[in-house]
Amino acid sequence: MKAIILSGGKGTRLRPITHTGAKQLVPVANKPILFYCVENIVQAGIKEVGIIISPETGGEIQDVVGDGSRWGISIKYIVQDIPGGLAHAIKTAEDFLKDSSFVMYLGDNLIGTRIDGFVKDFNAKSPEALILLKEVDNPKQFGVADVTEEGKVKQLIEKPEVPPSNLALVGIYIFSPRIHEAISRIKPSERGELEITDAIQELINMDCRVESFVLDMWWLDTGKKDDLLTANGTVLDEWLKTDIQGEVDDESSVFGRVAVGKGAIIKNSTIRGPVIIGDNSVVDNSYIGPYTSVGEGVKIVNSSVEHSVIMNGSELLDLERLEESLIGCRVKIHENKTKHKALRLLLGDDSVVEV
Ligand code: TTP
Repeated sequence: MKAIILSGGKGTRLRPITHTGAKQLVPVANKPILFYCVENIVQAGIKEVGIIISPETGGEIQDVVGDGSRWGISIKYIVQDIPGGLAHAIKTAEDFLKDSSFVMYLGDNLIGTRIDGFVKDFNAKSPEALILLKEVDNPKQFGVADVTEEGKVKQLIEKPEVPPSNLALVGIYIFSPRIHEAISRIKPSERGELEITDAIQELINMDCRVESFVLDMWWLDTGKKDDLLTANGTVLDEWLKTDIQGEVDDESSVFGRVAVGKGAIIKNSTIRGPVIIGDNSVVDNSYIGPYTSVGEGVKIVNSSVEHSVIMNGSELLDLERLEESLIGCRVKIHENKTKHKALRLLLGDDSVVEV
């Protein structure tokens, strides 16, 4: 079994953050989303991984992720010249995949469970595809599956007007090599992409067995700001462990699960977890509230922040209340003394904002 992680695409929904970087490298609890995908694949015992990259952001992804040796696996990079759709990405990876079965993992998806059970299930039952599904409130916005009681997939429809169920496709799939034949038989959709839903539907039309599993754990697509904040909050809530490596002075109070990185300094401040604060950051005379991730080298002075992601090298000074915000790298926010309202922001790297 091999795996491919899809880390190309346009990332339009996370602009301006993705003007300057790959969305799969945006941190959740101070770790790039892509790392959670790789780790889940590694836990399933898969050792050959291909990462699909775009010409624009691929270099950055290779620099950050490397050759896989830190996880004891091999990672190869496969450039997809255009974001031609998820099935197009598989087509681009055909030489890497050869005649192997494979996991396909979308590089901006997070799930609250390991995938090793699904891999075992696939190996035991040998269907042509195993797809993961999740009940959602708004199925019209997703690829939706119509399944039998035993989980056999009858039909898949992309963003249906009249959804046959509330079971949405989660961005993790396992395929046998027959998916390549199905992809060779489909045409681009109206939006010009080779759609994975069409390819799986083609497998069904070819009388292949397509199985499904309905997840009861969380699944998060981190494509938009609010989804990313939810992902950050969920991961902090479920997986963060208390680990104070930096300095917390006697005037500061720390409640709940809080991680403070090496060289970080907490002075005269209150931190209410779950909160992670990266290496060499300074929190001075401030309040950091639940579900906040502060990157490395960040400075927060005379401010109150909660439910936010603040990336490396940013500076928050004299902010009365910042919440539900996603702040890129090296952003500076200083108070304009005339306003006192809570702030809700989506800012790109290198922004400078006075409020
Ligand atoms: P999407 O989020 O569906 O697409 P996108 O990256 O173009 O994002 P946006 O809607 O914000 O413009 O893609 C899911 C994942 O698959 C994501 O990690 C990017 C990746 N992908 C590819 O690698 N190749 C592709 O052709 C497409 C469409 C997506």
